[in-house]
Amino acid sequence: MNNNKPNKTKFYVTWSLVAMFLVSLTIALVMVSNYKKDDSKQRYKLTQIYKDVKDSDYQIDMKRGAAVYQNYCLQCHGQQAQGLRPYPALAGSETLQGPMLVPLKIVLHGIRGNRGIMPGYKNLNYLDITHVLNYVRNNFGNHAETIHPVETIKAKIDTLSRKTPYTRDELNSK
Ligand code: HEC
Repeated sequence: MNNNKPNKTKFYVTWSLVAMFLVSLTIALVMVSNYKKDDSKQRYKLTQIYKDVKDSDYQIDMKRGAAVYQNYCLQCHGQQAQGLRPYPALAGSETLQGPMLVPLKIVLHGIRGNRGIMPGYKNLNYLDITHVLNYVRNNFGNHAETIHPVETIKAKIDTLSRKTPYTRDELNSK
């Protein structure tokens, strides 16, 4: 009789582990499918906006761009975009003035490097993201091609599944 006890314990332990595993698997699957559902809702919304904005005229709103800069960027990148240690300068930044997709990705989802972590601002309105980027790309001695709002929306759609800041390697490789 007594010999059976360890076997029974083993039985219960094994089955509770299996049960726990199945429960966590179910929870994980439900979470993943909700994530996907959120993305497809977002994608639908953005695609509608894309159609509306595609052929619209756009003028950089420097005043609005400056206001967004003061609220969201100045604390790290500085009044003159000179960079506040350890954060990098945006004045003279090649990355900022280079192909627009890279700075768009950085502002949408953030960047993580040896100077620290910049959070993403994907919840900001797409026009504000466009204005602030055009403002810093054409101020503080910088010059770069104007970003049209449709490019911001396109970048949002293309990076919908992104949930964490980029590394520099990821941005350089694409
Ligand atoms: C919390 C501080 C912080 C805030 C706020 C912040 N950034 Fe950054 N930013 C960083 C850090 C840190 C990096 C670089 C990370 C690294 O490479 O080590 C960076 C890098 C960048 C770069 C790339 C620069 C280069 O030369 O590589 C751009 C462009 C940029 N930020 C734009 C912005 C804009 C626009 C805003 C406001 C919407 C903003 N940042 C807000 C911290 C911040």
